Amino acid sequence: MSLSDAGEAVSSCLFDMAAVDSFSLLLREIGRSCNCYIETLALIGALYTAKTCFTFVNDTYTLIRLHFIPRLVRRADLVKLYGKWAVVTGCTSGIGKSYAKELASRKVNIILISRNKEKLEVLAKEIADTYKVETAIVVADFSKGSEIYPAIKSALAGKEIGILVNNVGLFYTHPDYFTNLTEDKIWELINVNIGAANMMVHMVLPEMVQRKKGAIVNVSSMSCCQPTPLMTAYSASKAYLDHFSRALHYEYAPQGIFVQSLIPFFISTNLTKFSEQLTKKNFLVPSAEEYARHAVTTLGISRRTTGYWLHTIQFLMAQYLPEWLWAWGAYRLNNSLRLEATSQRPH
Ligand SMILES: NC(=O)c1ccc[n+]([C@@H]2O[C@H](COP(=O)([O-])OP(=O)(O)OC[C@H]3O[C@@H](n4cnc5c(N)ncnc54)[C@H](OP(=O)(O)O)[C@@H]3O)[C@@H](O)[C@H]2O)c1
Repeated sequence: MSLSDAGEAVSSCLFDMAAVDSFSLLLREIGRSCNCYIETLALIGALYTAKTCFTFVNDTYTLIRLHFIPRLVRRADLVKLYGKWAVVTGCTSGIGKSYAKELASRKVNIILISRNKEKLEVLAKEIADTYKVETAIVVADFSKGSEIYPAIKSALAGKEIGILVNNVGLFYTHPDYFTNLTEDKIWELINVNIGAANMMVHMVLPEMVQRKKGAIVNVSSMSCCQPTPLMTAYSASKAYLDHFSRALHYEYAPQGIFVQSLIPFFISTNLTKFSEQLTKKNFLVPSAEEYARHAVTTLGISRRTTGYWLHTIQFLMAQYLPEWLWAWGAYRLNNSLRLEATSQRPH
């Protein structure tokens, strides 16, 4: 090696060392000046983790408090808490029928309102014979709008209405595009899913307020949680009911009235019979009887609940989904239900 080569090697080595030194120096400097940012990020992370842990513990506690503890302790005396009579709308099948029976099993007299007189008479007799309570029936079609309410009002007159269950509700024949609904169907949805609850509450609430006690249950749906494509008008009507119930609770809770927004997920009833998957009962799709048994125990305890513990787990997960993800999932599910329902039909 010549002398000049050796000199070059030494200077390149010195240069490398200086570069390494300055790099680590640079890192140290960056680290020092970023220290406060790193600490801030760590603090945000810790707060987020604490919030997530708190939410998880709180949700678990709510689940147990709502769905398990009431089933272990003595049944609440609904007559003493709210009054002698309950009104259940849309009650000859599904959730309404089972809910009415659950209330009757707790010695509440029942007023049944639906369209079909024969079915009403059979159910009224069955409830009276089985549970030894008084029953009354009112034949009314809520899709007719304002004309039916005077008759309902006179049928209810003189009875101490303690509980109103606004259960009546209709869905499309199957999930579908909004423009495929007929004008009549849209009016029916508005009159039955929205109009009926408003008018029934308007009818019974003043006397409840006078007595300073009463409970109103408005049956909404999981589709109220977020915008749900292919159920557009239905989900919007259920979101209306959910908001209506929550606002009504704030307005009337100070006067002793309990208002509950009941938010079921899928339940095996006539309403879901468009799908074979939803007709088969399973742990996520309970029967109306099982659902009502759970839901009634939440009366007076939770003002916004699914009413059924497995639905509550679904609800807790659903509420953290971003809207786009919910809408994407809902569209895929509803479209497959739509295709299932339409392919079953003869063309
Ligand atoms: N099933 C589910 O998966 C599910 C999920 C979420 C929310 N919900 C809600 O739960 C409620 C009950 O649903 P469901 O599944 O039990 O329904 P369902 O089995 O179809 O029962 C509907 C009841 O309403 C009555 N009804 C229907 N149209 C009426 C009208 N125009 N006037 C008066 N009564 C009428 C029917 O009796 P008549 O034919 O004798 O009149 C029947 O008793 C609805 O509000 C629904 O939106 C259901």
